[in-house]
Amino acid sequence: MSKSLLHKYSSAVPRYTSYPTAPHFHTGVDCDKYTQWLQALGDDLSISLYLHIPYCDRLCWFCACHTKHTLKYEPITEYLQALHREIAAVGSLLASGAKVSAVHFGGGSPTMLRPDDLAALMAALRHSFTFAADVEISVEMDPNDLDEGRYDALSAAGMTRASLGVQDFDPKVQKTINRIQTFAQTKSVVDAVRARGVRSVNCDILYGLPYQTLATVERTVADIVSLSPDRIALFGYAHVPWMKKHQTMIPEEALPGIDMRYAQMVRAGELLVAAGYEAIGIDHFAKPTDSLAAASRNGTLRRNFQGYTDDAADALIGLGASSIGQLPLGFVQNITATGEYQRMALDGGLAVVRGIELSAEDRMRAVVIEEIMCRFGFDFGSLRDIDAGLAETVVAEARAFAATNRDGVCRIEDDRLVITDAGRPFARSVAAVFDSYLANGRGRHSLAV
Ligand SMILES: C[S@@+](CC[C@H](N)C(=O)[O-])C[C@H]1O[C@@H](n2cnc3c(N)ncnc32)[C@H](O)[C@@H]1O
Ligand code: SF4
Repeated sequence: MSKSLLHKYSSAVPRYTSYPTAPHFHTGVDCDKYTQWLQALGDDLSISLYLHIPYCDRLCWFCACHTKHTLKYEPITEYLQALHREIAAVGSLLASGAKVSAVHFGGGSPTMLRPDDLAALMAALRHSFTFAADVEISVEMDPNDLDEGRYDALSAAGMTRASLGVQDFDPKVQKTINRIQTFAQTKSVVDAVRARGVRSVNCDILYGLPYQTLATVERTVADIVSLSPDRIALFGYAHVPWMKKHQTMIPEEALPGIDMRYAQMVRAGELLVAAGYEAIGIDHFAKPTDSLAAASRNGTLRRNFQGYTDDAADALIGLGASSIGQLPLGFVQNITATGEYQRMALDGGLAVVRGIELSAEDRMRAVVIEEIMCRFGFDFGSLRDIDAGLAETVVAEARAFAATNRDGVCRIEDDRLVITDAGRPFARSVAAVFDSYLANGRGRHSLAV
């Protein structure tokens, strides 16, 4: 990789877990609009649910998630009352035939929930929605939280996928990011969930953390591989202290530079592929037997707010503070502040305060960007099938970009824009070429690599 290419394409761009991206949501979409959009959902629709639990009993300095530190449980009890109200309200607005194909508990740390509360939450979901027989239930787990009662409750809730945050096993890196978590502790969680029949285990690891070196990344990857997770997410540390105050605890002089970040990402990827994992999109790896790898091979990989997914649901419903929903007519987002969320949900059931209604052009560009992020290119013909006029605008942009792009990131091949192998790490930057909102307000994002 030439240094100039790396520096040219590593500027800050969105992660494209949606298009249009969340900074372009506006207050014109509110609870009334959300009510109409929910009621417009068809009867034979499949939906997936995302529940956000914005609490943690430790605060890791690197964390960019929407969460609050609490050592007391009362705030969680109060939050759950509002979440129950929202579940009932959304469920009552849906057509009765809509089926839930996937439920994802994210955060924060859903594993902070007490066993009884988790059971009550699942009962409420099953009461308000109709579940498909083969529903996938995934849970983000902080290995620090777990005990026998919680494992049993997660198993009784029907958890099919456990997603463990690991980040890095090096003690100095862990101390600097305020996240102490030994290999033995992590292994005990993997063993415990597998003993309870969980089919799929995912581990998150990071590169670009303070004091990380090629050697620490290599050791962490080797340790992770020894646990044999089905999926691995390899994220670049997003340093956004202007948004996340606690990241100012991270000594910036200890952060690897862009060249080292890139070297760490490439090395980790090489080791995972050598260990038998298939590379998925820009930052995931999966065993060939895993459904994400199958989706990547057969062209059905999708991208949503949780990253890469094989979930083919027609709509994603977000529940809880800050959660985002993706409906056929547009995106909605609940209010972020937990206190305000509770007031709104307890008062009227719903808590949407922002979103965006999709125009025909948004839909076309969303297809282009999802294709780039999932399949590293897009067919001009399939765009023309959606809308011939709009397709010509996008195709002209693709041809112009390919013509001026002399550094081998992409090329036009048989009526298709193709990102080359060398260009794949910069897929976010290529996607940004087709983002018509970016020019109107760049915002501040994390590094593309
Ligand atoms: C909600 S957290 C994980 C669940 C659980 N609370 C835990 O920490 O184990 C989801 C994942 O987001 C990723 N993440 C959080 N902050 C990040 C950041 N600043 N940059 C990149 N990835 C980040 C981490 O890999 C983390 O495991
Ligand atoms: S990484 Fe997980 S445990 Fe740490 S603060 Fe973020 S959400 Fe909480």
